[in-house]
Amino acid sequence: MQELLNTLDNFVRAGVDEIIQDKARNLLEEQHNKQPNNTKIIKQDVASKNTNNQLNIKKENLISEAVPTNKLILAAKDAADKAGNLEELKANLASFDGCALAKTANNLVFADGNENSDLLLIGEAPGASEDEQGIPFCGISGKLLDDIFKAIDRKRETNLYITNSIFWRPPGNRRPTAEEIAVCRPFVEKHIALIDPQLIILVGSTALNSIFPENEQTISKIRGTFMKYKNPYLDKELDITAIFHPSYLLRQPGKKAVMWDDMLKVRNFLQG
Ligand code: URA
Repeated sequence: MQELLNTLDNFVRAGVDEIIQDKARNLLEEQHNKQPNNTKIIKQDVASKNTNNQLNIKKENLISEAVPTNKLILAAKDAADKAGNLEELKANLASFDGCALAKTANNLVFADGNENSDLLLIGEAPGASEDEQGIPFCGISGKLLDDIFKAIDRKRETNLYITNSIFWRPPGNRRPTAEEIAVCRPFVEKHIALIDPQLIILVGSTALNSIFPENEQTISKIRGTFMKYKNPYLDKELDITAIFHPSYLLRQPGKKAVMWDDMLKVRNFLQG
């Protein structure tokens, strides 16, 4: 009996109770109706322009095959371009139809902390607690992140600002896909420009991949180093570094000493 309960518990942890797609797929029927060229069956009205020449993407048609990723990225850029401040950026994200994760998530997870901070942290994607509360890093790994930064006198209330590379929880906490990262990227870039921090810290590999898509580096290789970063919304280069994700430290407590070294470097950098 206990074995059975453990197995069920493992299934739940793996996300069997999560919605993976917004519609169940009948693979047998799809096979039967298969068209020689998939793109031909895309409805004309999936992505259309409204009177202001904005790209409209109908939510009900939001399946990854329906609208090519580059169109979704253009729509994301358009929405990010139009945001003149953080409030508008959040509102534009909330009404953005181009990321299917928004359909399965309970909440948009935008940011937390002091927007006047000189230190910006960019994490990966919301988990279950973040999805419930709409606040980044409010679960177990967030508690560890807070403790790490408290050690160098940084707190959300006063001198720390936190966001993510992905703004909605991926079902079952799976890794975000390259397309999801790419579609969220314009919002992340605009977010950085609106905060305009002295230092950006990338927390974990998804953040590294979001900010440096061409760079195949790992966190282990670049942690402890300080680099320059620029994006289309910035008129100057910003300083940037990367650290291990706190959930990695929870699995590998031996790496906490390395994190402490990195925190001392961050503190010196910000004081220098
Ligand atoms: N992990 C992240 O990277 N971000 C969150 O908001 C929560 C967990």
